[in-house]
Amino acid sequence: MFSELKQLPPDPILGLSVKYKADTNPNKIDLGAGVYKDEDGQTPVLACVKKAETLRTANEASKAYLGSAGSALFNERINQLNLGDHNVIRENRIRTVSTPGGTGALRIAGEFINSCRPGATIWVSNPTWANHQGVFTAAGLKVETYPYYDYENKCLDFPSMIAALKQIPKDDVVLLHACCHNPSGMDPNAEQWQEIAAVAKDVGFLPVVDMAYQGFGAGLDEDAYSVRLMADAVDEMILCSSCSKNFGLYRERIGACSIIGKDATAADIIQSVLLRVVRVNYSMPPAHGAALVETILGSDELSAEWHGELAEMRDRINGMRQLLVDKLTENGVTRDFSFITRQNGMFSFLGITPEQVQRLQEEYSIYIVGSSRISIAGISPSNADYLAKSIAAVL
Ligand SMILES: Cc1ncc(COP(=O)(O)O)c(C=O)c1O
Repeated sequence: MFSELKQLPPDPILGLSVKYKADTNPNKIDLGAGVYKDEDGQTPVLACVKKAETLRTANEASKAYLGSAGSALFNERINQLNLGDHNVIRENRIRTVSTPGGTGALRIAGEFINSCRPGATIWVSNPTWANHQGVFTAAGLKVETYPYYDYENKCLDFPSMIAALKQIPKDDVVLLHACCHNPSGMDPNAEQWQEIAAVAKDVGFLPVVDMAYQGFGAGLDEDAYSVRLMADAVDEMILCSSCSKNFGLYRERIGACSIIGKDATAADIIQSVLLRVVRVNYSMPPAHGAALVETILGSDELSAEWHGELAEMRDRINGMRQLLVDKLTENGVTRDFSFITRQNGMFSFLGITPEQVQRLQEEYSIYIVGSSRISIAGISPSNADYLAKSIAAVL
């Protein structure tokens, strides 16, 4: 049977990391993977996570199964983090399962939607995170795109986006990035979100909000504005969140899939289907990451420390956005790259050609995905000048 398989190309982003690791150039720069790095190019475990791990080692009493929903305490606390003191919590309309990362949450959301409406169409932004297409297709959905980024003017193409959303059939699903859009870094502003929420309500499509970078844009509550607004506007929605980036828990695989129904009775039915979807996929989620997050969120001291560490990551990324723009100017680049400072989160499109991306890799050992998306966290004061000089050289 296996001899019938055909070789598949490696995942473009994961394949880039492999090439980067094998490169012996001491000046090499990795701007590929969406992983936070400090000034020394490291991704250390957060101090608050280390402390939560010490507590967990001392206090964990059992390794017995947790059940398909995962830890109830994690689910409660992640809802508070994502939604604040929202009506949907007070009205008991939300049901949550902890999942293996944000990707697990998206896959569960996809399978849940497929249980409601087999083969439903989900609309994703053009462009979107490369894995959205694969995850939803694997869950049995049909994937279509709506316009989002204006490549020429390096901004959100809001008029085209909103016009397309108005045309979406009411039984379809629309995926929205809550904040720090991956890959463009370009988010709707508050007024634009209000318009999007009003269209979702009018048209009646199901919004699935993907929040993988809460706290990396403007702040924890600020970045969740879109989620809370959407939950105000519609009766039913799905929220997929990830603790990979904001808690630095990438490999622990912890996220959440939260489904909001129109009332508590509907939510109970949702829960039964949600648990079945999890049970037939991976039975139950890993527990370690959830235990760390619930410990941090349940302690004033650890929460304060986490807020500080998160702000440090956010501020460093924003500082590197400005530094890159300044260094490009210093190195004689006349093209306007100021849009980089108007974007949020980990990513930006440089807007250079695939040939220029290739030259950066081959001649300068600078690793960027083919679309020219750069992960800003790979920039540091020690490599920004080399990076700007190399970009200037290929332009
Ligand atoms: C937009 C978006 N959604 C979801 C994810 C999934 O994150 P993870 O599965 O690592 O938690 C990512 C990760 O890069 C992402 O960028």
